[in-house]
Amino acid sequence: MRNLNEDNITESVLQQIKADNPRLQQIMTSSITHLHGFIREVEPSEDEWFQAIQFLTRVGHKCDDQRQEFILLSDTLGVSILVDSISHRMPEGATESTVFGPFHREGAPVLEHGANIAHGPEAEKGEPVVVRGRVTDLSGQPLAGALLDIWQASPDGKYDVQDPDQPEMNLRGKFLTNANGEYWFKTVKPSAYPIPDDGPVGDLLRATGRHPMRPAHIHFMLSADGYERLITHIFVEGDDYLDSDAVFGVKNSLVADFTLNESPQAAAAYGFDAPFYEVEFNFGLKPI
Ligand SMILES: [Fe+2]
Repeated sequence: MRNLNEDNITESVLQQIKADNPRLQQIMTSSITHLHGFIREVEPSEDEWFQAIQFLTRVGHKCDDQRQEFILLSDTLGVSILVDSISHRMPEGATESTVFGPFHREGAPVLEHGANIAHGPEAEKGEPVVVRGRVTDLSGQPLAGALLDIWQASPDGKYDVQDPDQPEMNLRGKFLTNANGEYWFKTVKPSAYPIPDDGPVGDLLRATGRHPMRPAHIHFMLSADGYERLITHIFVEGDDYLDSDAVFGVKNSLVADFTLNESPQAAAAYGFDAPFYEVEFNFGLKPI
């Protein structure tokens, strides 16, 4: 390997890649080929290339136990949803998946149907919501004992881990479907929120004329024996950010009507003051 130049460097690097693992061989061959192609197309100056290295260095330095700036970078470049889409090509009858996001926590309590997952000040100031639905297989047969792990942001747009004023495990809960595959729970209406934008990813969004907002949503992770785990959201119909989600997670099939119910009697039956919102959302799971 001598006299390497812009015409022969790519081939020379590729010849050095001799991984025992064929998948690693494929990944390295492709990533080097595309990276060199990108450089040939853009022709960055040495100063620009150093800026790119400094940017990635800042992304790494921003990461800690609570913050994963590389996931945020992947999300905001649309790579996370691309990987998700390729990994979860869903058959007819299965609910579509979407991004996992960084705010899931292990250890949310398993609750009885009808429990309210909103506690503390959020439960009082939020608009009450009843969420109900069914979990089925692809043919619509109910799945009993399916586990729904649910988490969402507060009416202020913050998860419990971002907000010291919220009680531990606020707006989180797990529910098991009954014999008819049904679940229901109470909560408060989520609101749109910005992804953390005080780091290099936020700087990149601003530099490229983008906002950091995600449309309001409730996260769901569903599991049942013999079925693929489903990670998805339900989004609130009418939200201002449905068509410009900073992480590209919105799918039409996941947008749900939050229907206003102004009946004092109906509200009282749930222990709410009118008005309140009702949402019905059914999930279909794909067999393994
Ligand atoms: Fe979220």
